[in-house]
Amino acid sequence: MITSHFPKCVVIFTFFVLSVGALDTFTAAVYEHAVILPNRTETPVSKEEALLLMNKNIDVLEKVVKLAAKQGAHIIVTPEDGIYGWIFTRESIYPYLEDIPDPKVNWIPCRDPKRFGYSPVQERLSCLARDNSIYVVANIGDKKPCNASDPQCPPDGRYQYNTDVVFDSGGKLVARYHKYNLFAPEIQFDFPKDSELVTFDTPFGKFGIFTCFDIFSRDPAVVVVDEFQVDSILYPTAWYNTLPLLSAVPFHSAWARAMRVNLLAANTHNTSMHMTGSGIYAPEGVKVYHYDMETESGQLMLAELKSRPHREPDYPAAVDWSAYARSIKPFSSEQSDFPGMIYFDQFTFTELKRDTGNHTVCQEDLCCHLTYKMSEKRIDEAYALGAFDGLHTVEGQYYLQVCTLLKCQTTDLRTCGEPVGSSFTKFEEFSLSGTFGTSYVFPQIVLSGTQLAPEKHYEVSRDGRLRSRSGVPLPVLVMALYGRVFEKDPPRLEMRPLGGDSDDVDHEGGTSMKEGFIEDGERAEYTHMCSLSHPLIPCITLGFREKDDHHQMQAIGLGPIL
Ligand SMILES: *[C@@H]1O[C@H](CO)[C@@H](O)[C@H](O)[C@H]1NC(C)=O
Ligand SMILES: *[C@@H]1O[C@H](CO)[C@@H](O)[C@H](O)[C@H]1NC(C)=O
Ligand SMILES: *[C@@H]1O[C@H](CO)[C@@H](O)[C@H](O)[C@H]1NC(C)=O
Ligand SMILES: *[C@@H]1O[C@H](CO)[C@@H](O)[C@H](O)[C@H]1NC(C)=O
Repeated sequence: MITSHFPKCVVIFTFFVLSVGALDTFTAAVYEHAVILPNRTETPVSKEEALLLMNKNIDVLEKVVKLAAKQGAHIIVTPEDGIYGWIFTRESIYPYLEDIPDPKVNWIPCRDPKRFGYSPVQERLSCLARDNSIYVVANIGDKKPCNASDPQCPPDGRYQYNTDVVFDSGGKLVARYHKYNLFAPEIQFDFPKDSELVTFDTPFGKFGIFTCFDIFSRDPAVVVVDEFQVDSILYPTAWYNTLPLLSAVPFHSAWARAMRVNLLAANTHNTSMHMTGSGIYAPEGVKVYHYDMETESGQLMLAELKSRPHREPDYPAAVDWSAYARSIKPFSSEQSDFPGMIYFDQFTFTELKRDTGNHTVCQEDLCCHLTYKMSEKRIDEAYALGAFDGLHTVEGQYYLQVCTLLKCQTTDLRTCGEPVGSSFTKFEEFSLSGTFGTSYVFPQIVLSGTQLAPEKHYEVSRDGRLRSRSGVPLPVLVMALYGRVFEKDPPRLEMRPLGGDSDDVDHEGGTSMKEGFIEDGERAEYTHMCSLSHPLIPCITLGFREKDDHHQMQAIGLGPIL
């Protein structure tokens, strides 16, 4: 009798657990992975060689997934390009790709590996999730055959997509997302025709997912938050830091704060490419982050997050980004404005000449106001307040409104806007605001040594001021209100298949080349990437230079992100 009842009890118990299974909090994990790169990417390798390389990376991820699961993580995010690296041609990425089905098919690759053809990578990732009872998020490549019946079909007869996949804790494929906003050098992949708004529900909230450069766009990044009301975003990225405004940790944490969602950001790790900076960010603040330009190691981070932050009493209120700035009269002074470039955008700057003051600087429709007090005005450091209101046009076109206070690289005002790593000037008080024409403004403060400013020392008020609150003097390197005006973005550029016209086929593909030189303790390195058939960007240069003492600060040139 007893034995025959036992299974029923188990069934009832399981049902009970499922029905009350909703969790108020969960443990998130992200892994910054130092990707093991293929030996060659200019020409295709065999499928076996490709799998060998991918398995080396998955071996590393496997150890990390086990460790995260042991520490109680419910979900782990691994980086974009984390399984095979980044510089490929259309042909040389091909042996790394698998056909990834729509999750609707209800597939557990670990249990049924042959169902959709040869898919060893999906099988392994699914087993990692299943064996460790943890959601696993990874970035791999998808291939989809097409033919002449589709006028967009590339000449080689297939689409290739940069793809995020999610396997649930039972190993089932629950999400597949094709990156919509490819970054210029990604000549190996095709742009999907339409953006995909991928979400899925879990006992610990509703999730959305997108990749790297997508974070600059409305579609899908903002749409998935505003229209689908997700609680958390999964964000694999391969982000190349570029100061002053586009460093991974400050930018991503600002996005989570402004969009009022959790963001689980996993970056690749490669110091010579200036790729580092991962973290777990909540609407009310940074939970954990990692930035390391000293070693070549990966790093696992875990943090507890609220499953449904918008239901919590401490959920931050929406900010009216222009309320304060529009309510005051511009500060008048005898200042003289001057132009300066930040990442190919021409800002209007004004210098902060005294230890305390009020300034307004305007460009087009945007006026930026600053009230500040320094501990001391140093003669060996120059600071400027800058405004930009215009279309950014390098590596993509997106409309910006930016107010920034930053340290110039030297006391020569022509260097204002160029990257700089350390500062001695301390700000005891500051209040930065702007007459933004958008509600999408990302607030960031970076201190000397590219440290994130601790949240207890500043606040974003509901009327749109980024201001000091503790009176603790802060060695500010840069602070910014980085606004995106989506309505003024040009329509998405024509996305021809990257294969180009069929008579270009034999020129198809890319080349890359590296040059380095040393001069006066300064090292410069440039990577030229050319795709003869790329319709938009035939050649681009990724470059940076570094001084031995503060090398992590000197990323310059084209190409902050992948
Ligand atoms: C790359 O080259 C190294 C050294 O020649 C070799 O040990 C390694 O197995 C190669 N990797 C792959 C994936 O073929
Ligand atoms: C190729 O075209 C035929 C019709 O011309 C169609 O039936 C078939 O499904 C197409 N194959 C692919 C992979 O799109
Ligand atoms: C970092 O990336 C560059 C460019 O892809 C590569 O040449 C270099 O070997 C990588 N560094 C490490 C430690 O893998
Ligand atoms: C800046 O403006 C405030 C009022 O907004 C005023 O109290 C303060 O004295 C001004 N500071 C300077 C240095 O002009």
